[in-house]
Amino acid sequence: MLALFGGSPVRTQPFPRWPIFGDAEEARLLRSLRGGNWGRLHGEEVAEFEQRFAAMHGCRHGIAVVNGTVSLRIALLAAGIQAEDEVIVPPYTFISTASAVIEANAVPVFADVELETFNLDPRAVEAAITPRTKAIIPVHFAGQPAAMDRLMAIARERRLVVIEDAAHAHGASDSGRPAGSLGHMASFSFQSSKNLPDGIWYEHHVLAGNYRLGEFQGAVLNAQLDRLDDQTATRDANGRHLASRLAALPGLHPQARPASCTRHSYHLFMARLDAAVFGAPRAAVLDALRAEGIPCSAGYGWTLPRQPVFRDKAFGPYLAGAVSRLDYTAQADRCVNADLLCREQAIWLEQSLMLGARNDIDDIARAFEKVHEHRNELAATLR
Ligand SMILES: Cc1ncc(COP(=O)(O)O)c(C=O)c1O
Repeated sequence: MLALFGGSPVRTQPFPRWPIFGDAEEARLLRSLRGGNWGRLHGEEVAEFEQRFAAMHGCRHGIAVVNGTVSLRIALLAAGIQAEDEVIVPPYTFISTASAVIEANAVPVFADVELETFNLDPRAVEAAITPRTKAIIPVHFAGQPAAMDRLMAIARERRLVVIEDAAHAHGASDSGRPAGSLGHMASFSFQSSKNLPDGIWYEHHVLAGNYRLGEFQGAVLNAQLDRLDDQTATRDANGRHLASRLAALPGLHPQARPASCTRHSYHLFMARLDAAVFGAPRAAVLDALRAEGIPCSAGYGWTLPRQPVFRDKAFGPYLAGAVSRLDYTAQADRCVNADLLCREQAIWLEQSLMLGARNDIDDIARAFEKVHEHRNELAATLR
């Protein structure tokens, strides 16, 4: 019997906790604290992290700033984006991918994602290009690299800048090349691989912000970076295993993985539920899975262009001259795949679940299988 109706849950043990940290983080933090150099200027941690993170991507430059939202904005400014230039972004992503564009006083234009991969559809990108388009920000959603070869070919032909939003993709790779080294620039949650111009001390030529990372965060990041490779290998192996088991269930489609994806960082494990084929709707399936002891969610409730901020064009001091010609409802209506994912199909499992033992993953698969076996009872309660 389903745990939702009083049966015993598949899973009673906790899944791995996040964050994972230990003596290495503590030692670096204390060294930084006691050393008294708490800022990037005289400290060593941030500089070390910038150098190591850039090197890990085969990139010459890395700049650590306070978060992945400002790093997107800074990348746009560094790319020379001007007022009201258009930047193509996906509708199925965290708000920062689009809000950073507005905070650069540029116009986000939404191009739909592919239903199977959850990533930006290159054909939709081509259709969204206008004479005002200056850049594309593909997101490596969930940690699976976007179709960068095709996007870069479009960008070359149309002379556009490509800024990877790699906020999910630490350690992921495509054809052996690290996500974050595939476009012209990239933004991670703590890093942007683009140098800022050198200059004479206290001489300022262009408007810029100060978003430097503090040494304490640098200390933690350095220790976490030592763990990243092993953790990514574990997540990738577990994610592959789970995907192969879930693909056997009718109406359940794990994120389609292109052959060129050599490493998925599984920031999220994504699947699509086709309710008509599976035999029960998503909300009921998620309730049943949670009762079986599997933490899961439906993810985004709306695509970005359907969010009130875009619908109402509540852009604060930005884009004053452009708002009257922008129609995000029309853009939202064109993003049919992203709509379907939000409204009916997407299922998210968080990355820490992929850090467990093979047995943990088998429990997750078993819970999905059990819910499928009992789909008729589940659907009956909804009638
Ligand atoms: C796809 C994507 N882009 C950008 C960001 C912004 O990163 P941060 O939270 O470090 O500002 C996030 C954060 O969750 C994200 O998921």
